[in-house]
Amino acid sequence: MLPARIELPGVTLTEDAPLAARNTLRVDARCAWLAEVHEAAALPGLLAHPALRDLPVLPLGGGSNMLFTGDWPGLIVQIGGARISVEDEAGKCVHLRVEAGAGWDDFVRWTLARGLCGLENLILIPGSVGAAPIQNIGAYGVESASCIERVEAWDRHSQQWAEMTARDCAFAYRDSCFRRAPQRWIITAVRFVLPREAPLHLDYAGIREELAAMRIADPGPAQVAEAVLRLRTRKLPDPAQIGNAGSFFKNPVIDAAQAAALQAAYPRLPHWPQPDGRVKLAAAWLIEQAGCKGLREGDAGISDRHALVLVNHGRASGPQLWALAQRVRHTVAERFGVLLEPEPRVLP
Ligand code: EPU
Repeated sequence: MLPARIELPGVTLTEDAPLAARNTLRVDARCAWLAEVHEAAALPGLLAHPALRDLPVLPLGGGSNMLFTGDWPGLIVQIGGARISVEDEAGKCVHLRVEAGAGWDDFVRWTLARGLCGLENLILIPGSVGAAPIQNIGAYGVESASCIERVEAWDRHSQQWAEMTARDCAFAYRDSCFRRAPQRWIITAVRFVLPREAPLHLDYAGIREELAAMRIADPGPAQVAEAVLRLRTRKLPDPAQIGNAGSFFKNPVIDAAQAAALQAAYPRLPHWPQPDGRVKLAAAWLIEQAGCKGLREGDAGISDRHALVLVNHGRASGPQLWALAQRVRHTVAERFGVLLEPEPRVLP
């Protein structure tokens, strides 16, 4: 039997904690223990505590990339520190260290206010800085990995602090070593290197048109951010208004032969050849063509604004949302022979 109270310096521990306000799909789940860690140095002591050390551990940032299909039977760890420190600004690039609890969008705006480049396409992505490397968040042709220098994390396997280089992190499309070993790492800070001047990424569909509509001919990073902000606000449902976790499915990457067959059958199929010869498809397009955009079962739905976004219209439970997502997967698989994979972590 667990003790009802555990006192640890630098940590606020709550037993049987509600999670509805801590996940952006607003699923009403609970966890056995919630640890709000105010100083990363308190983490090893917390995880070694006899009452907690054998429990499954789930690091939680803004809760914008998870679907709870049931209660979490173990410990949820939320890293609280949000300091941004300038480590070196002597050269052409600025080196920053950001604690995991900082809000991603707050951090992006902080960099823009200081005239730094690199993250302007990634404005308005929900979630925390500590969660960004896990699924290598990205949007509008840019991935966060492009600016990440190192990641500081507690390694639960070796029981040591690790400072991982970008190469160690094995970043890929919405993927990293942290995503592949979710019980192993707890990220406490991320180090970024951001140039003061760099070419802007304007090629992703919609950015140039948005800048033209804003009557901006020679944009800087702040104007690109403004264009992305307008595009996202128009296209994606706001988690503050309606529960959602952004893209619920990853864009599938399929082999060239299957892509060619699909293109022959569906000439309008959006597709992007990848460096390894495979082809990425737009999951949103497949879902919409399969007739699932705007689908609704009770309070679980697929957004009528963007087909990739699973939404909670009110009181949908985790299992109801997951059942609807499975229905979409099956419908797309039957129609196109492509199995979509969820982007968020589906728990427990
Ligand atoms: N499309 C549809 N129906 C829709 C929405 C889109 O057919 O309802 C088509 C569009 O016409 C376009 C294609 O799907 O041809 C791609 O759509 P979009 O440009 O909106 O991008 P996406 O591939 O659906 C990805 C990211 C988003 C990111 C956007 C913009 C993934 C899984 N999603 O979406 O990321 O904002 O590109 O860069 O890679 C997120 O990860 O949570 C997220 C929102």
